[in-house]
Amino acid sequence: MAARKTALITGVTGQDGAYLARFLLDKGYVVHGMRRYEATDDDTARLRDVIGHRHFHLHYGDMTDGGGLFALVNAVRPHEIYNLAGLSQVQVSFTVPEYTADADALGVLRLLEAVRTLGMAERTRIYQASTSEMYGNAPAPQNEDTPFAPRSPYGTAKLFAYWTVRNYREAYGLHASNGILFNHESPLRGEEFVTRKITRAVAALAAGGTQKLMLGNLDARRDWGHAADYVEGMWRMMQQDRPGDYVLATGRAHSVRDFATAAFTYAGMAVEWRGRGPQECAFDIVTGCMVAQVDPALYRPAEVHELIGDAARARRVLGWVPRTGFEALVREMMDHDLAQAGVHMARESILAVAAE
Ligand code: NAP
Ligand code: GDD
Repeated sequence: MAARKTALITGVTGQDGAYLARFLLDKGYVVHGMRRYEATDDDTARLRDVIGHRHFHLHYGDMTDGGGLFALVNAVRPHEIYNLAGLSQVQVSFTVPEYTADADALGVLRLLEAVRTLGMAERTRIYQASTSEMYGNAPAPQNEDTPFAPRSPYGTAKLFAYWTVRNYREAYGLHASNGILFNHESPLRGEEFVTRKITRAVAALAAGGTQKLMLGNLDARRDWGHAADYVEGMWRMMQQDRPGDYVLATGRAHSVRDFATAAFTYAGMAVEWRGRGPQECAFDIVTGCMVAQVDPALYRPAEVHELIGDAARARRVLGWVPRTGFEALVREMMDHDLAQAGVHMARESILAVAAE
């Protein structure tokens, strides 16, 4: 029997880390995950499914600590590194720009340097979690040839990392690839991202709560896919003979307003949006109650208006196609959050939405 491959996942406690760990364990890998020192048991909640698996191991480490990264790479000597760690909330990156650059930009340099100076260029392949945020407001659809124009400290830090990966590939022959991933969500999505914020708030309202859903820019459009599909794309990049850069996306975009409307509808609440800009609100047509409202404090200092990915290269070279579409994604996230809120939807309501 062939020896098991070993993977190291940084940021294993996050949404993608949890899906990827499960995916790689199912493929027969030995999986080592890096968690932060300050992580609590709560932070490993997404890993409930894999903690205790005999081929899954957790280690402490931080992208801001080069010595620790070096020691970890040296101890694990992985065949594949998936670098998912870093600050991932665009809004927060405006508040802590220097930390964002340290973790998301310099952190990647530290990891690449560890692999290079340990003489592991031949052994270890590296996946870097690059992002569609690097495109900023470049016209959609965006693909691997679209010029980048980031509009946040997060985007600029990720762009540094993107070019550093390419530089290490060209200068030192590292098998290092960038996955330029468009937004991907799931029931494991962090609660501060807009999709999960919406599904949790709508579920709470459906359970009888009275807390309105407060949102920022309703007109922003995103290409929302499912995280489970995207981690498979990451793995496919690592199986190529040559490294490369690939967009992963569904090719379909919806506005924040569309997402909220779909979530309300799924929960059996027909809503009507009234007003414009900072005055816009949504009302429950049956009760007349206001259920959502714009809060201009949630607007970003600089917004990325529309991201729609063209994943033709990934389809052609990697054979990657996303399975989950927008409606199924909303449904899965709502089912999860409704169940958490103790609401079990009547079948008629679900069927009515499915028929839309
Ligand atoms: P996530 O849920 O926010 O997970 C981020 C992970 O990074 C968490 O495990 C977090 O640990 C860890 N982390 C944060 N700062 C760190 C540091 N200084 N050192 C070590 N670990 C640190 O994000 P995700 O959605 O899974 O995304 C994974 C990666 O893909 C991120 O780099 C993100 O920027 C990128 N990306 C995501 C998307 C998307 O739509 N999801 C799209 C494109 C690119 P804690 O649990 O302790 O906070
Ligand atoms: N978070 C949040 N909260 N966003 C809101 C809100 C709100 O209350 N109201 C409107 N939005 C808008 C944001 O202004 C943005 O245009 C859009 O909803 C999506 O915001 P997020 O869900 O926070 O995601 P993001 O697109 O900024 O970033 C995510 O996707 C990137 C890939 O494009 C993150 O996962 C990044 O890490 C990732 O790189």
